[in-house]
Amino acid sequence: MKPIKVGLLGLGTVGTGVVRIVENHQDDLKNQIGSAIEIEKIVVSNVNKARNISVAASKLTDDAWEVIRHPEIDVIIEVMGGTTATKEYIVEALKLGKHVVTANKDLMALYGGELLEIAQQHGSDIYYEASVAGGIPILRTLVDGFSSDRITKIMGIVNGTTNYILTKMTQEGASYADVLKEAQQLGYAEADPTSDVEGLDAARKMVILARLGFHTSVDLQDVSVQGISNVTKEDIQYAKRLGYQLKLLGIAQCDENQISVSVQPTMVKNSHPIASVNGVFNAVLVTGEAVGETMFYGAGAGELPTATSVVADLVAVSKNMKLGISGKRINSAFKQTVLKTDDQ
Ligand code: NAP
Ligand code: HSE
Repeated sequence: MKPIKVGLLGLGTVGTGVVRIVENHQDDLKNQIGSAIEIEKIVVSNVNKARNISVAASKLTDDAWEVIRHPEIDVIIEVMGGTTATKEYIVEALKLGKHVVTANKDLMALYGGELLEIAQQHGSDIYYEASVAGGIPILRTLVDGFSSDRITKIMGIVNGTTNYILTKMTQEGASYADVLKEAQQLGYAEADPTSDVEGLDAARKMVILARLGFHTSVDLQDVSVQGISNVTKEDIQYAKRLGYQLKLLGIAQCDENQISVSVQPTMVKNSHPIASVNGVFNAVLVTGEAVGETMFYGAGAGELPTATSVVADLVAVSKNMKLGISGKRINSAFKQTVLKTDDQ
């Protein structure tokens, strides 16, 4: 069978993980999809940069348009970040009927509705599981796993960098600045870590979760956001003495058609399961009217956990291509919600 050809935008933390998983799990992926996956081209900003993965020089380019418009490429994986040029690349890819997998929560929180609409108009898929909670398959779970229930609350730790910082400050008395640097070196933090520490990254993720969970549009501007940059060692030690852990929590609630979404540092009692979510780990608690409370836990950032979600999306997109149902699954779930809100 003809291979699925991929254009990869970005070969940083996540892109490197994608190349590794596609290489190391090639046989398993091929068995599931029925075709091999070939990464045809990789876009980077500096083709001469030293990398900790070996890829053929002929695959690397700094010309994203060459890859987007490459006639043989079926799927674009976007793991380079940014919203302006990146949006243009993705729109063009979708209009050309290519499928897109992205880990970009900034883009999906800002333009998700528009991109999903374009995808559907052109029979393309856009999947974005890795945009929220790294390796936890929480978007699929919300769309498919809770489809029979009515979700009333989504709460959790959805930023790995800040949880890593708060954990090290709590357990080792480490300094905020030192641990932030460590999180950057480990590839957890965003290119500009301000969005992590000021709570914006978590807010974007909560917007995506709330949209999918509550079947409605939620605007980033309506989210109340407070980060951890003003949290002191004293705050943390005070919380600890009282039997609490300080965590950056995202909370989205849906009561009587009123939706509220917020992100803030919160004292969590030691006995609560969220209190023991440490380091780069994330946890998302989803409460449904029928199911009650559920909790999903796993690595929230980092090379291989995040790439696992990206490649799972690639598998889903590839299967959809084979079945001729591209543009009809997560996309349609999201689109219905946008239409429902517009009708109100
Ligand atoms: P990263 O390590 O900074 O890598 C970015 C990659 O994109 C690099 O290879 C870079 O090229 C390339 N790039 C950046 N801007 C470019 C441009 N204008 N033109 C061409 N290439 C460009 O980033 P990352 O941590 O992998 O994150 C990528 C995306 O995944 C972001 O949207 C992020 O929010 C999201 N994400 C990250 C994680 C995580 O744990 N890191 C988890 C979930 C989601 P060079 O290599 O030449 O510099
Ligand atoms: N900077 C993000 C975090 C990456 O630390 O959670 C994963 O989305």
